[in-house]
Amino acid sequence: MKIIGTGSSHPSLTVTNNDLAKFLDTSDEWIKTRTGISSRQIISNEDLREMSTESAKKAIKNAGIQAKEIDYILCSSVVSEYITPGISSLVHSDIGANCPCLNLNAACTGLIYAMQIAESFFQSGVAKTILIICAEEPSRMVDWSDRAICSLFGDGAGAIIAKKNEKNSYIYTRNQSICDVLNYRHIFEYSPFITKEEKDTPLFMKGPEVFKHAVSTSTKDIDMAIKNTGIKYEDVKYFILHQANIRIIETIAKLLKQSIDKFPHNIEKYGNTSSASIPLLLDELNCNNKLQKGDIIVLSAFGAGFTSGVSVIEW
Ligand code: ACO
Repeated sequence: MKIIGTGSSHPSLTVTNNDLAKFLDTSDEWIKTRTGISSRQIISNEDLREMSTESAKKAIKNAGIQAKEIDYILCSSVVSEYITPGISSLVHSDIGANCPCLNLNAACTGLIYAMQIAESFFQSGVAKTILIICAEEPSRMVDWSDRAICSLFGDGAGAIIAKKNEKNSYIYTRNQSICDVLNYRHIFEYSPFITKEEKDTPLFMKGPEVFKHAVSTSTKDIDMAIKNTGIKYEDVKYFILHQANIRIIETIAKLLKQSIDKFPHNIEKYGNTSSASIPLLLDELNCNNKLQKGDIIVLSAFGAGFTSGVSVIEW
């Protein structure tokens, strides 16, 4: 595939670390040194549907196409106000598209899974142009009295337009059976038939374990992708990683013996926006003319499940 357009949308409210310190036992210094995050954009009066549509419209404009040219809409989202219909169907109606829609939840790895589905749709002839949206509002899942969790996340929606290309992109996804380190559970609506006990828990995370899994998984994925594609590390312009923690990114750069300058990041401004983090960063780089035709870029993401994915694309 070829990515021919990008777009993004952020909520208007900026929440700084000092804002959090007004109601939590935390500090700007603690959050910044442990995570790299200075502030995040949090939903207050926006809704994720509007943000998804805005990011999609920007990506369509950036690609120079019309909504009617889109053959498929894929949307990665962990949670939103709508359980059904999915955000892809909502955006479909907002932009006036005329194509099938599919929602997926591969946690923070959603973009890479969506790209893999898109690539197989291109190869099988299902579609030639696909809109992928990653729309996330982790602020809906976190316990805002838990400093160890809520300080890490931010909301946002990022979109890309992927087009069938004569060269296939390298995309690899996997899942390790590690579900207890990171999860969010939601109970039934009232049902007169339920006799079992269920847990309604806000986003739960064993931080240090997630850190270790993220580092080892992403390092292995990237190294394997480099070997399998036959490219060299020096051919890669950027390693664009899921923005979960600057220390995770720095550790991966060090283990791969690569300069941190090749790992662009915007976690300082947005926190961890789950699967939206890579498309948001891609859009920022694209808008700032940091991506040139022919650049080799490696995308790597990891998340609850424990899912992970890596892709090597040519811009
Ligand atoms: N402010 C002040 N103190 C805090 C805060 C905070 N915001 N958060 C935790 N602490 C405290 C803890 O309560 C603990 O106190 P205690 O020793 O009295 O019990 C102490 O700091 C150390 O806690 P740890 O969890 O051991 O701290 P650590 O250095 O591991 O950093 C962190 C925690 C930042 C969560 C780290 O483990 C991490 O980044 N893990 C990766 C998790 C991640 O990126 N998740 C994103 C979601 S998953 C994904 O995207 C794949």
